[in-house]
Amino acid sequence: MSFSSRLRSIPAILAVAGVGFAACADEPQTPTGPGPDENIGVELDQQLTAKLVSSEMTGRIEETLEARLGRPVDDQLAEVGRLLFFDPVLSITEDNSCSGCHGPNASFNDSQSISVGIENNGVVGPGRAGPRNLRRAPTVINSAFYPKLMWDGRFQSHALDPFDNSSGFGFPQPEGNSLSNLDHLLAAQAFTPVVAREEMAGFDVQGDNDAIRSVIEQRVDGIAEYRASFAEVYPAIAAGAPIEYRHIAEALAEFQFTLVRANAPVDQGRLLRVPHHPGLLE
Ligand code: HEC
Repeated sequence: MSFSSRLRSIPAILAVAGVGFAACADEPQTPTGPGPDENIGVELDQQLTAKLVSSEMTGRIEETLEARLGRPVDDQLAEVGRLLFFDPVLSITEDNSCSGCHGPNASFNDSQSISVGIENNGVVGPGRAGPRNLRRAPTVINSAFYPKLMWDGRFQSHALDPFDNSSGFGFPQPEGNSLSNLDHLLAAQAFTPVVAREEMAGFDVQGDNDAIRSVIEQRVDGIAEYRASFAEVYPAIAAGAPIEYRHIAEALAEFQFTLVRANAPVDQGRLLRVPHHPGLLE
């Protein structure tokens, strides 16, 4: 029905409604008048599809994880990473963990508008209190796919691909390009929160970043359960080698690989609507 023909039919509809009202005033009235335009949905679909294509959003990113890693996610390593993510053992002050700021109760986002790190009151949620950091913690969900990390993108894969270290991973000094031997940008990133004084290390910590990581790796190495878990993944550790910070970082990254959530209804909608369309994130 065109708009003008529907307009012409309105008086007739009103007349019928009026009769209905007089006959049974107590019964609920069915809304009358022009129905929704069935073309609106089609047009919106077309506009949405065009927008998704122009934004390079295909809904296929979740299924690219394994191929880009070049292997399946290692469940055992991810489980060690999960335990470490929630363990204040990684904090020199032993009062904060990754999850203090990236809380699962806040979608691995921050429960605070500006992060509270060390010397917190032990709460993760609205009541969290303590010295503020400079910024809010973003969610780590889907961070496996980001070619640059942090709000200002200062941690980056030079190849603009977090799975590709061939051109190096760039960090501000003192790390610079020294973390480029890690396989994934998230593993390189995991070297940094533990040395940030206001996040996990504490204002009074002595020594440089490597000295801080060395304390942490010795601590983790001294925990029999962690040694046993790491030994199941790394033959060298099973053979007696000590746990190094690299192993801890790789475990944290592996856990974050399990936090890929790109299959929400809107993503399924993309799958239905948008044909395969290679983009920056694929
Ligand atoms: C004190 C709070 C705090 C703790 C503890 C913390 N983070 Fe963060 N995290 C932040 C903040 C704040 C940012 C953003 C900082 C910026 O942009 O300068 C961030 C950024 C990140 C990012 C980049 C996300 C993105 O979208 O760019 C990752 C990944 C991450 N953190 C992982 C971790 C891991 C792993 C740990 C534990 C080893 C950890 N964080 C501990 C506050 C924290």
